[in-house]
Amino acid sequence: MSHPFLVAGTARGRAKPAATFDVHRIRADFPILQQRVHGKPLVYLDNAATTQKPQVMLDAIRNYFVHDNANVHRGVHLLSQRATQHYEAVRVKVQRFLNAASEKEIIFVRGTTEAINLVASSYGRRFVGAGDEIVISAMEHHSNIVPWQMLCEEKEARLRVVPINDDGELLLDEYARMLNPRTRLVSITHVANALGTVNPIKQIIDLAHRHGVPVLIDGAQAAPHLPVDVQALDCDFYAFSGHKLFGPTGIGVLYGKERLLEAMPPYQGGGDMIRSVTFEKTIFNDLPYKFEAGTPHIAGTIGLGASIDYVQSVGLEAIAAYEQFLLREATEALRGLPGVRIIGTAREKAGVLSFVLDGIHPHDAGTILDMEGIAVRAGHHCAQPVMDRFGVPATIRASFAFYNTLEEVDALVRGIRKVQEVFATCPSCGICTSK
Ligand code: ALA
Repeated sequence: MSHPFLVAGTARGRAKPAATFDVHRIRADFPILQQRVHGKPLVYLDNAATTQKPQVMLDAIRNYFVHDNANVHRGVHLLSQRATQHYEAVRVKVQRFLNAASEKEIIFVRGTTEAINLVASSYGRRFVGAGDEIVISAMEHHSNIVPWQMLCEEKEARLRVVPINDDGELLLDEYARMLNPRTRLVSITHVANALGTVNPIKQIIDLAHRHGVPVLIDGAQAAPHLPVDVQALDCDFYAFSGHKLFGPTGIGVLYGKERLLEAMPPYQGGGDMIRSVTFEKTIFNDLPYKFEAGTPHIAGTIGLGASIDYVQSVGLEAIAAYEQFLLREATEALRGLPGVRIIGTAREKAGVLSFVLDGIHPHDAGTILDMEGIAVRAGHHCAQPVMDRFGVPATIRASFAFYNTLEEVDALVRGIRKVQEVFATCPSCGICTSK
C-alpha cells in the first residue's frame, strides 16, 4: 500500500486519485495519532477545533528552548541574536506562505480572534464613526461577530449581516445591495467553521473594493486547507491561527496591507512597539513592531514556522485535493444513513461535515462516539447564529485533516450507527430505549 489515497479509493471501486499522497507516511509524523482511547484506535476528527502536531514542530520548539532561548530584539548577546533571527525568519516564511508583498505586513498575534480584535479596535478607532456600517455574514464564528458588535455599540455604528441560503451559501445579491457609502469594512470568513462553506472571497473583495471598502478575511479554517495568495485576492486583512495549522496555540497572524496598517493607531502600548518614550510623547515603532507590544510568543512563532515548512513539504494543493476526497466519501456515506441530516450543503465546501441525528442530542452522540475512540465536536461551534438559522441547538461536527483516512470515515459511519442503536426506541412502545 505505497499509495493509500489511490488504494483507499480503489477499495471501494471508486478510484479518484488526485495526487500521490501517502497518508500512512504522513500519520507517522504525528505521534499523538498512534494512541488508543477507551481501548480503540484514536480517530481524530476535530481538526476544525485544533489540529495535531507533527514531530518536526515539537522538535523546533524544543531546540529553541534547549539552545537559543532569549528575548528578541533586545539583547546584544548571541542567544538573543539567534532567537531574533529564528523569530524574524518565520515572519519571512509567513510572508511567502501568504504571498504578502512585504514582511512588514505580517503581524504576530495570539490567534485569529486577536487579529480580528486588533483590526476592530485599531481600524475601528480611527475610521468608524456614528452611522457608519460594518458588514459581516450570517455564517461567522463569534470571533467575527462580537468584536464588531462591541465596536458598533461604542461608535453608534450599524452591524449589517449578509444572509445565507438553506445550503449555507452567502446571498451575494443581498451582499452587493448592502454596500453603500457608509460601509467602512467588510469582514467575512473564508471557510465557515460550522458549515464548511468556502466563500467566493475574490468576488466578495472585488465588490467591496468597487465601493472603496476594505475587506478582512477570517482565514482560520482556510489557511490550513487551501492555498492562500493575499495579493491575488487583493484582501486588505487576512487572519489565521497557528494551532489550526498544525502549530502551537497562542500564536497567529494578521496580514494587513502596509498602507492600511500605517494609517492605523497601535493596538496595545508597551515594549517593542515604540521608538522613543518620554513622559511628554511616545514615537511609535515602524511596522510590523508597532503592533507587537511586549515579549511575543517566540517559541510559538518558531513552532509555527516549522509547521508551515511541514505543510508546504506536503503541498497545499495535494492537501486540498485529498481532503476533498475524504469529504466526498464521508458526505456520501452519511447521506446513505437514515436519520441523519447534514447541516451545510454548499456547492463549495472544505473538509467540515456538520450533522444532526433524529431524536438524539449532539452531546449524547459525541459522548458515545468518544467511547468508540472517535473525537468530534458537538455543540454550537461558537457560531450560535448559524445554529439559529438552521433551527438546531447544536450539531455534531466531523472535520478532516490530511492525516485522516478513509478507514476513519468508515469508523465514523460505524460510530453513528452505534449511536443510533443505543438511542433506538423499542418497537413495541416507541418511547423507551429498551430493545
Ligand atoms: N473555532 C474553533 C472551532 O470551530 C474552536 O471549533
